[in-house]
Amino acid sequence: MRVLLVGASGLLGKEIAGLLAEHEVISASRKGADIAVDLSDKSSIEAMYSAAGKVDAVICVAGTAKFAPLESLADGDFAFSLANKLMGQVNLVRCAVGKVTEGGSVTLTSGILAQTPMVGSAAVSVVNAGVEAFVRSAGLELKDRLRVNVVSPGWVAETLQSMGKNPADGVPAAQVARAYKRALDGGMTGEAISAAN
Ligand SMILES: NC(=O)c1ccc[n+]([C@@H]2O[C@H](COP(=O)([O-])OP(=O)(O)OC[C@H]3O[C@@H](n4cnc5c(N)ncnc54)[C@H](OP(=O)(O)O)[C@@H]3O)[C@@H](O)[C@H]2O)c1
Repeated sequence: MRVLLVGASGLLGKEIAGLLAEHEVISASRKGADIAVDLSDKSSIEAMYSAAGKVDAVICVAGTAKFAPLESLADGDFAFSLANKLMGQVNLVRCAVGKVTEGGSVTLTSGILAQTPMVGSAAVSVVNAGVEAFVRSAGLELKDRLRVNVVSPGWVAETLQSMGKNPADGVPAAQVARAYKRALDGGMTGEAISAAN
């Protein structure tokens, strides 16, 4: 299988690439990947698909949203967050039609802050919930052509550790990566797959 992995150089991306050793993995991100892409720019996504050629699956573990207290979030912070992690992933699916093999799959990323917000997560929570709502809808509409799913990671243990917090409160990146593999190998569509504690 040819798998396009957007965000391959990140914490989750590296773990997923390791799990997919039996497949041909094409890495994509803004720098240092097989193909350069900026998720926040639809023309860049179109160019990525053209450069990749036909792929059987896409996994996206990229995309950013602004984490800051609600009252400090400016219009630009919301616009940035929506354009990047939300519309970036929406456009990844919209542009996949005709570029990903019929019956292939696209797996996106949301996060636990969609359902379990915390102080500072307003923009991130909007984005994550939006990605999940989009996947339910796109899964329905594209069901004869593409499977579309989303993995919702909880806090990743290694990320908590890098923030000086207790990694035991999180899920190891290797375990989160297995949820993407399940989405790739399974037959589901329109599903949000939890990879939380
Ligand atoms: N880590 C956690 O605790 C956690 C929890 C819940 C959800 N998540 C979600 O999981 C995803 C991956 O998290 P992570 O911890 O693996 O992140 P990470 O280590 O920061 O890696 C992010 C990856 O995405 C790429 N990237 C970033 N912005 C991009 C853009 N605009 N266009 C294309 N590529 C871009 C980065 O490469 P370049 O810099 O080269 O572009 C990198 O490969 C994110 O959506 C995050 O919100 C993470």
